[in-house]
Amino acid sequence: PPAVAAAAAASAPAHVLLICFPGQGHVNPMLRLAKRVAAKGLLVTFSSVASVGARLVAAAGVSAGGDGVPVGRGRVRFEFLEDGDPGPDLDDLMRHLETAGPPAFAALLRRQAEEGRPVACVVVNPFLPWASDVAAGEGIPTAVLWVQSCAVFSLYYHHVHGLVEFPPEDDPAARFRLPGLPEMSAADVPSFLLPSNPFKLLADAIITQFRTIGRASWVLVNSFAELEADVVAALPGVTPRPPELIPVGPLIELQQGEEDDAVRGDLIKAADNCVEWLDAQPPRSVVYASVGSVVVLSPGEVAEMAHGLASTGRPFLWVVRLDTQPHLPAGFLDSVSGRGAVVPWSPQDRVLAHPSTACFLTHCGWNSTLETVAAGVPVVAFPQWGDQCTDARFLVEELGMGVRLRAAPAGLRREAVRDAVEAAVAGPRAGEMLASARRWSAAARAAVAPGGSSDAHVQAFVDEVAR
Ligand code: UDX
Repeated sequence: PPAVAAAAAASAPAHVLLICFPGQGHVNPMLRLAKRVAAKGLLVTFSSVASVGARLVAAAGVSAGGDGVPVGRGRVRFEFLEDGDPGPDLDDLMRHLETAGPPAFAALLRRQAEEGRPVACVVVNPFLPWASDVAAGEGIPTAVLWVQSCAVFSLYYHHVHGLVEFPPEDDPAARFRLPGLPEMSAADVPSFLLPSNPFKLLADAIITQFRTIGRASWVLVNSFAELEADVVAALPGVTPRPPELIPVGPLIELQQGEEDDAVRGDLIKAADNCVEWLDAQPPRSVVYASVGSVVVLSPGEVAEMAHGLASTGRPFLWVVRLDTQPHLPAGFLDSVSGRGAVVPWSPQDRVLAHPSTACFLTHCGWNSTLETVAAGVPVVAFPQWGDQCTDARFLVEELGMGVRLRAAPAGLRREAVRDAVEAAVAGPRAGEMLASARRWSAAARAAVAPGGSSDAHVQAFVDEVAR
C-alpha cells in the first residue's frame, strides 16, 4: 500500500549520485569520496560514461546496477551512462560528452526516482560543466568535488575573473603574487591557463565550470585544511568572493581491509606481484617511478629514464605503459633483472605505503602528490603539464619533500635522473626531506582519522544531505 511504501522511503538512507569525468585521476578521488560518504551511512551511486564502466568491470571487478556492496554503514553501487565510443582524442571526447552527456545523465537521474531511490544530491567533478545544469533541471542540489589543489583552484579563479595577469612564459625571472600563495612564475601556473596550451577544449570546459561553480551547494576539495591553510584562509577576501572550499581529503585508500578493498577504481588491472617483489627488498631501498595515467614519455625520455634508473645501483619499480614498453633499450630488462621491475600498472597506494619504498619519481598529478604526502615518501618531481607544474612547486619548495628533475633544453638526460634520485635518497638534504615527508604524512592521516578536519567535513556534508 502507498502508506507502507512512503514509510519505507522515509526510512531509506539518503541517496548521493556522483558523476565522474572519464580519467583515472578523476575516478580515484570520486570513488574514494563515495566510500567516505557511504561509510557514514548513505547510499552512494558512482556513475561515469560506459567506457569507464567497461574498464572498471574488467580491471576492478565492479558490477553495475543492483544494490551494490556494503561500505561501512552504507553501500556503494555503480551505474553507467549509455554512450558511444568517441575514440582516444581528447577534443573528440569533450565534444561527444557535451552532446551525448546531458540527455543520458537526465535519464539516469529520472530512473533512480522511478526505481525508488530518488537522488538527494549530485556530486559532479570538473570538466563536466553540463552535469550541474542537468541536476538543477531535475530539481536536485549539487556538490562539486574539485579534484586538484586549493592553490590550483585559486589560480583558476583569479584567471577566470580577470584578477591576475600571469607573466610571459619566456621570462622565467618574472614573478606574480596571489593572496595566501608564495611568489610564483609562469612555470608554476597550471599550463592550461597559458598561451602555449594545446588542449583548448579541456581548458574551455574548466573555465566554463568556474563561471558557474558558485551555484553549487557545496564545493568539496581533495585537500586537507592543514596542508593549504594560507590559501584557504585568503579566498574569502577575494572579490568577487569564491565559494567556500570544504577540504575532505586526502582522498587516499584508507587500507581498512577487505571491505574497503571491495571497491577500487583501477581502470587498468595492476600487476599482482608488486607487493611480493617489494617484500623481498631491503627497507627504504626502492625507487618507485610512475608518470600516472595520461602523461606519455617520448621514446628518447624512456631510454634516458631507463639508463638513469639503472645507473643509481638501487632497486627500482617502474610503471611503463604497455604501448611505451617497446621504447625500452634493447636488453634492458635482462640487464636489470632482479634489481629492477617494470610493470604496466601498479597498486600505487600499496607501493607507496610499503616500508621498502624510499622515494617516488612522479609526474606530480594531484592524486600522486597527495598519496606520497600521506605515505610520507620523498619525491623526485618531474611535472609535465596542467596542474602538475603547480603541484611540483609545492611538493619541493613549500613542503620540502624532495627535489626537481629537470630536462635539459635538448631533452631528459640519464645523469639528471641519477643525480636527482641520489639527492632525494642519500644526498646531504635527504634526511631533512624525509623528516618533512613524515611530518606531512602524520598531518594527512590525522585529517582523515575519525574526528579529524576532513572527516568532520565529510560528516557535516552527510548530515546536511540526509536532513
Ligand atoms: C590527471 C592529472 O595529471 C592530475 O594532475 C589531475 O589532478 C587529475 O588528472 P593523472 O595524470 O593520471 O591524473 O595523475 P594522478 O592525479 O596522480 O592520478 C593517477 C592515479 O592513478 C593515482 O591515484 C595513482 O595512485 C593511480 N596509479 C597510477 C596507480 O594506481 N597505478 C599506477 O601504476 C599509476
